[in-house]
Amino acid sequence: MIILAIETSCDDTCISIIKSKNKGIKFEILSNVISSQVKLHAKYGGVYPSLAKREHQKNLPIALKKAEKIAGVLRFDLIAVTAGPGLEPCLWTGVNFAKELADKLKLPIIPVNHIEAHMLANWLLPINKNPKNIFPAICLVVSGGHTCLILMRNIGKYKLIGETRDDAAGECFDKAARVLGLGYPGGPVIAEQARRWKSKIPSPDGQIRLPRPMINQKNYDFSFSGLKTAILYDFQNHSSSTRNAQKYIREMCFETQQAIIDVLIKKTIKAAKDFNAKTVILGGGVTANNELRKQFKSQIKNSKLKIQFLVPPKIFCTDNAAMVGVAAFFRQQRNKSLKILQAITVNANLKI
Ligand code: KG4
Ligand code: ZN
Repeated sequence: MIILAIETSCDDTCISIIKSKNKGIKFEILSNVISSQVKLHAKYGGVYPSLAKREHQKNLPIALKKAEKIAGVLRFDLIAVTAGPGLEPCLWTGVNFAKELADKLKLPIIPVNHIEAHMLANWLLPINKNPKNIFPAICLVVSGGHTCLILMRNIGKYKLIGETRDDAAGECFDKAARVLGLGYPGGPVIAEQARRWKSKIPSPDGQIRLPRPMINQKNYDFSFSGLKTAILYDFQNHSSSTRNAQKYIREMCFETQQAIIDVLIKKTIKAAKDFNAKTVILGGGVTANNELRKQFKSQIKNSKLKIQFLVPPKIFCTDNAAMVGVAAFFRQQRNKSLKILQAITVNANLKI
């Protein structure tokens, strides 16, 4: 089955063409086009929805042509599109584009939940897909809009066990970068500054100590707005010469990143223990973070739990349409009666 997938929930215009093989045991990515709007939104320090919508409208036909050319195919069996959660005007642009295309090509459309797509990005990996080896799994989805822990009993069988009560982890990276004057998106720049601080000073024991919100609470929820405020207060409490110095910026980035990592890892491993998980699955833009990936791997190893650890290659952690195609494939497999869904609508607050 060849799937044409569309993703426009935030600021990346993505089109991918994937081919499923052996009932989803393997997926071949024929093309994966990502047209980033980062430079445009950087001026505003975050995504500006009406601007993002206009860019999606402009970029979608170009991305489609490019994806078809790279893949070398023009015939598809299915169209997949993200229907939520995300920025409503952006979601509508993708869904309307999918509808027009489906009309023209006489194809069914499968609407996809963006959070499920981030989880299923791991099915693009050449792993053993036998459900007995994977489930139950604990999934951590961390991006600019979401921070959630999900108990996964099978593909399609999800239970949200915890989520952020305020800001998402990616949002915290982005807002910290804004305070520090580092630009948008915050995650990659904070990671880079943090790496430099650590490598320049032999001992990474600095002066700045940020809170690890809710780290010892028994639930699986998160909260990052207090961390963001702590960063702002620390910044404001220093003279402009101190806070603009390289040392302060690098140390603050290191501590911000580590505070977020500590909370995410502790809560995820706790959930994995409590639910006897066989696998920990990561997804979402924040999981592209090198330190997070490295520390997760080593802490799972140190926990002596027999847990498989899955994280997608970085290009499939941040928004992409290949993961949307995978989610649509499994949705179609679960419900063969999902045929022509021209009446699909979007839901900016869609839950898992
Ligand atoms: O999944 P994604 O591309 O879009 C949403 O669904 O929101 O995630 C974007 C988020 C941004 O907040 C960005 O700062 C963060 O992922 N991010 C990172 C890294 N790369 C992207 N955060 C930490 N470290 C990174 N290397
Ligand atoms: Zn995302």
